[in-house]
Amino acid sequence: MTEVITTPTSTTSPDVAAAAAQFLGPVVIELQALAVNGKQAHWHVRGANFIGVHELLDQVVDHAQDYADTAAERVVALGLPIDARIQTVAEKTGAGKMPAGFLASDAMITSIIEQIDVALAVVNKAVKELDAIDQTSQDVAIEIARGLDKDRWFLFAHIAA
Ligand SMILES: [Fe+2]
Repeated sequence: MTEVITTPTSTTSPDVAAAAAQFLGPVVIELQALAVNGKQAHWHVRGANFIGVHELLDQVVDHAQDYADTAAERVVALGLPIDARIQTVAEKTGAGKMPAGFLASDAMITSIIEQIDVALAVVNKAVKELDAIDQTSQDVAIEIARGLDKDRWFLFAHIAA
């Protein structure tokens, strides 16, 4: 005899789940893009403060991957899928194309800060919009915003006067 599973996917309503996915989906896209381009930057940065910047960029990548995981798993916990396939990320990211090849540390840091700012724009939108929809999902976005702000500061401090 086949057992019929009657346990609901989530206690959250489908409408709330869909809204959370609407705002956290773009967050996952931009964080995955940041992780890929952050590695590109980690490999190709040169010049002033090389070791420090090289290692900091790896931390930015690690954080982006952790944040993407948290946002994606919040959506999945609500019962919906996430589309972060590489083609989808490439199609949907709002980040500009970073320079190819080796780059001086100031220019590389500027490029990654621009990408963090693209991610922060969608994260901050999620924080704002999720306030009235689902505060548990909003909490995920707030945590990510706080982390990205800190990574941005660590990078910016290298190029600030
Ligand atoms: Fe490495």
